[in-house]
Amino acid sequence: MRVPLLDLHEQLRPLRDELLAALTEVLDSTCYIMGPKVEALERELAAYCQAGGAVGVASGTDALLAALMALRIGPGDLVLTTPYTFVATVGCILRLGARPVFADIDPVTFNLDPALAGEVLARSEHRGRIKALLPVHLFGQCADLAPIMALAEEHGLPVVEDAAQAIGAVYPWPEAGGQVRWRRAGSVGTAGCFSFFPSKNLGGIGDGGMITVADAALRERMRIIRVHGGEPKYHHPLLGGNFRLDPIQAAALLVKLPHLPAWHRARRRNAARYQELFAAAGLPEAGAVVLPQAVYAPQAKDDEQLDHHIYNQYVIRARRRDELKAHLLHHGIGCEIYYPIPMHQQGCVAHPDWQGAGFPEAERAARETLALPIYPELTFEMQAQVVEAIADFYQK
Ligand SMILES: Cc1ncc(COP(=O)(O)O)c(C=O)c1O
Repeated sequence: MRVPLLDLHEQLRPLRDELLAALTEVLDSTCYIMGPKVEALERELAAYCQAGGAVGVASGTDALLAALMALRIGPGDLVLTTPYTFVATVGCILRLGARPVFADIDPVTFNLDPALAGEVLARSEHRGRIKALLPVHLFGQCADLAPIMALAEEHGLPVVEDAAQAIGAVYPWPEAGGQVRWRRAGSVGTAGCFSFFPSKNLGGIGDGGMITVADAALRERMRIIRVHGGEPKYHHPLLGGNFRLDPIQAAALLVKLPHLPAWHRARRRNAARYQELFAAAGLPEAGAVVLPQAVYAPQAKDDEQLDHHIYNQYVIRARRRDELKAHLLHHGIGCEIYYPIPMHQQGCVAHPDWQGAGFPEAERAARETLALPIYPELTFEMQAQVVEAIADFYQK
């Protein structure tokens, strides 16, 4: 049996008729730019993400770009982020003429290490030049937002959460009296940026994105920037772009959004099954693999149903990773490396300052990580086959 990394047919089958009806509605309305579907999705997504409001945009990349533009990031500015992410995070900084500065990642979560971020912020050459913090909630688990927000407050900086992979993931926000309030990705920072790329937990039938933002004035700026910076029409006080969300995508996403909690649950169930299957095969104990950890889960029995990790990707560390990947692909098991080259070593990013500086944990992650199938409709038998194939590889 083949086990694909992702099988969208399985998700499509039960939703097909409803999706066709929603798409037909848009077609027949002849409202093809913005309109009620986009507005409805903005409302529903803002409510789901516990955010004050949301702005629909054309992709996760445009969400990041428009958010940084609204925050007036420009030439000469520095933005502090992680070197271990998808290129869009860093590409948007560079496209504005700004430059990324990196702090290394936490080896357990693969997310920006707040202590190292603090050290970078404290460096004299960065004083006054770092204009925003851009943590990424990689693979579906929030970066450690409380210390990141504390740094932002100390230095007077906005925080843009790259939540492209983490829609609905919760973070244990510390409240007075030692209490915890679970806050969803994109509701903590100044803005949250989401992607509806089809492989995301909430995926469209093409590109799409959203910015969550509580501040009404900033939200308005983002809305203006989304349509060429035009307000009123054909007057352009701001430089913007065509960052509009397509109503066809909004219509499809409105059909899918009510299913998101169940899909998150299924992904968490699949992660728990992997945990059992890998343990039964003795692979973590043998040092062959390191399994992903949901570091915020669970704080109490009542919290078990919360989406501490939404497992957009199930990423293990593996000994002899490249050979294992070839072995799995040879046996019909989908897997992928997210990401093989950290940002500071990418051709489009490389800067003399970073040569030799090194971010050892990001570089080690790039050498060791491998994403396995985790999509909601994956069966127990398929997961057993994945683990069996991995066990076979290490027995050879
Ligand atoms: C961490 C991260 N940031 C940004 C993006 C960009 O999103 P999009 O592909 O919708 O432009 C992605 C998408 O893969 C991502 O994973």
